[in-house]
Amino acid sequence: MADVRSTALPDTHSIPEAPPAPTHVAIRREDYRPPDWLVPEIRLDFDLDPDRTRVRATLMVERNGDHDRPLRLDGDDISPLKVQVDGADADYRLDGPQLVIELSGRQATVETEVEISPAANTKLMGLYASGGMLCTQCEAEGFRRITFFPDRPDVLSRYRVRMDGDSGAFPILLSNGNRVAKGEGPGGRHWAEWEDPYPKPCYLFALVAGDLKANRERFTTMSGRTVDLAIWVREADLPRTQHAMDSLKLAMAWDEEVYGREYDLDQFNIVAVSDFNMGAMENKSLNIFNSAYVLADQNTATDGDFDNIARVVAHEYFHNWSGDRVTCRDWFQLSLKEGFTVFRDQSFSADVGSAPVKRIEDVRVLRAAQFPEDAGPLAHPVRPDSYIEIGNFYTATVYNKGAEVIRMLATVLGPDKFRAGTDLYFARHDGEAATCDDFVKALEDGSGVDLTPFKIWYSQAGTPKIKARLDYDSGAKAATLHLEQHIDPTPGQPVKQPMPIPLKTAIVGEASGHEICPERLIVLDKASGAIRFDNVAEQPLLSINRGFSAPIVVEAARRPGELERLAQADSDPFARYEAIQELMMLSLVAGARGEQADPAPVIEAVAATLRSNSLDPALKGEAILLPSEALIADRLAVVDPDAIHASREALRHALGSSLASDLLAAHRSDGASGHDLSPKAKGIRRLRTVALGLIAAANEAEGAALAKAQFDRADNMTDRQGALGILVSLDAPQRQDALNTFYDRFHNDPLVLDKWFALQAAAQRADTVDQVLRLEKHSDFTIANPNRLRSIAGTFGANHWAFHSADGRGYRFLADMILAADKLNPQVAARLVPPFGRWRRFEPNRAALMRAELERIVASPGLSKDVFEQVSKSLA
Ligand code: PHE
Ligand code: ZN
Repeated sequence: MADVRSTALPDTHSIPEAPPAPTHVAIRREDYRPPDWLVPEIRLDFDLDPDRTRVRATLMVERNGDHDRPLRLDGDDISPLKVQVDGADADYRLDGPQLVIELSGRQATVETEVEISPAANTKLMGLYASGGMLCTQCEAEGFRRITFFPDRPDVLSRYRVRMDGDSGAFPILLSNGNRVAKGEGPGGRHWAEWEDPYPKPCYLFALVAGDLKANRERFTTMSGRTVDLAIWVREADLPRTQHAMDSLKLAMAWDEEVYGREYDLDQFNIVAVSDFNMGAMENKSLNIFNSAYVLADQNTATDGDFDNIARVVAHEYFHNWSGDRVTCRDWFQLSLKEGFTVFRDQSFSADVGSAPVKRIEDVRVLRAAQFPEDAGPLAHPVRPDSYIEIGNFYTATVYNKGAEVIRMLATVLGPDKFRAGTDLYFARHDGEAATCDDFVKALEDGSGVDLTPFKIWYSQAGTPKIKARLDYDSGAKAATLHLEQHIDPTPGQPVKQPMPIPLKTAIVGEASGHEICPERLIVLDKASGAIRFDNVAEQPLLSINRGFSAPIVVEAARRPGELERLAQADSDPFARYEAIQELMMLSLVAGARGEQADPAPVIEAVAATLRSNSLDPALKGEAILLPSEALIADRLAVVDPDAIHASREALRHALGSSLASDLLAAHRSDGASGHDLSPKAKGIRRLRTVALGLIAAANEAEGAALAKAQFDRADNMTDRQGALGILVSLDAPQRQDALNTFYDRFHNDPLVLDKWFALQAAAQRADTVDQVLRLEKHSDFTIANPNRLRSIAGTFGANHWAFHSADGRGYRFLADMILAADKLNPQVAARLVPPFGRWRRFEPNRAALMRAELERIVASPGLSKDVFEQVSKSLA
């Protein structure tokens, strides 16, 4: 399928009068105008063939308002073979990528015909081939690669779709909605016709044709309707679909109970494909998934994979209401559906698993992916103001910070008022394309609470930093909390306004360890403020931003011993975790600065955590995991990756040698059969491997022996991958043994082979650059498959110490990968750029090397607008 012929041509068919780079122009939010023409109905006819698919589209168009502007249809890499209006050949012109037709009346029937080649479509946007099947990906702007259409989310249409194809190659033909007819054709062909009763934007259109088998079950909705559920995969993968099916049913029941949302069609289909740019896609009633988020069994998937499948299945299902029934007016409103849906999937995962562990994981993702984005050259508001390529805005800011914004609104309103607000939102905007402002207005009207001050969270980029200081007056038995906020400038926003910051705060007694002032919600809405606490009868400790109630950085003035005490006594599990992490961070930052860093307080806190009877194993595993090197780098004015690595390794060594017997006990703790997916069993496995990592940091030979034993004994992928993840960083003979064993057993399973590549690209070793250069030449490596590309290049870009190797070879490797990938798949290539974005913060030698690679990329001929936007912004 890696036919690159079509991508050797320009993005759009060549139009002589077009200026050289007309596609690299920024689209601005303030330029939004309602569509000139609506398309209430569309009929699509596909003659399916991997090399030459004919697409006939019949659009019923309707003039929207009083104007005399022509009908403009978007196209990308397609040319019209036929254009008719009301049954007669029509005059039309091409304006860049658009097809322009002058129409005289208020309504018309417009028919176009194009021919496309799914097999040559390496961008994986539009209609493409994957493993013998044909499938579509239309969000954000892929539909225009299938047919001419006003490709914008505020044009909603009813779809009727006919597919005609070879019945041997494509026995299954699926589209959105319900199948309304089918039949046999001549020459071994057959056809099916589908109709979706719900008007939808074209980014939610989907089609699948292939030799697929279904895991089928039924779900009875709250009003008693039966829904046929099907998860479609290749026959050999059927045994690995049950977890996705169980997750789907849990998600359907959860959305009924928590949001009152019932499913609205008689069928719900999920299809797994091996070549997919992102995680999954919420096409109406026909969700298409990256197979990594569908297929799992204990032998091939880790606990993390199981959790991710449940999360993504729920996420896409929840989009049926937050995305499909109520969609986005324009792509600047992307967080309307994504931020809200991430918040919904986070709440779901918290409810069906361990809520404190889930919160810690979500905050870790936010800090690892979103905080650096907010602090670098690609920073943008949750509702961006402009873009060159919308594909670059499927970011941690739009998704994860967007979810935090909804979470803050839910916190301020409380559960009942929040639910009243979301009920009103769904009722008021059902069938519409809405904005973030509409969402906040519905919450306000439904709850009776003015949320105007919070809207700034949608428009202002950057992570607020809060300085907090608690003063104690023992005579007056009163404590005063002084707060100050500050936000650094971001691109295009040099001056920042104060933001409303909801801080769940409690006061803990230092001696008693009790919560002497119970948790309350403080909203800091000015640049600074002070809050008084009375009846404080003992020396107080500040427990602030509990549960991570706001997506901010807290810089609290701490007295000696305060974090140690909170780490043991705080009743909020998240705050307790934070106290230990902050304690570690202070030591790690001091070490990286070359200052004397006494590890004793960290060792004591970790010892107390390991020995605690009240903490469950999962929380222990999270709490004793050291902050990542990237996170340490965020705390330093000038980043020296070698110094950070050395500091972190030194602390790991100190912990491993001082707490050897506690760690060994944690490593050996039992009660987790490999097939038990309960939160408790997952926690035991998590702690087992985290403890082993610290043991290996202090004693390489013992660590290698224990890891190899865990690897050999493992009856599940969590233990196996965990052990191999430790071995790959060691210079022990067991390392290559285990890698070979893993490869021999799993090399025919693409998803597991991705792990084999990723583990080696993540290794903490001096020769990781050489390893990835070797892996890139491996016969199983292919740049055309996004999962495989990410397993090496994405993982390596996140490997702080290896990527930032002082000789610049890591930079050169990733830049080469970006350039090579861009020729096939710009969207996936552009997502590899962000690790380069923070070059200004590195020591001068590395900063110069990173900048030189960015300049080499941006000077390359034929660069896509996706990569151009990310690289030019990174240099600006
Ligand atoms: N909308 C998808 C989601 O659920 C993400 C996606 C975007 C998938 C673009 C494919 C292409 O988050
Ligand atoms: Zn989504």
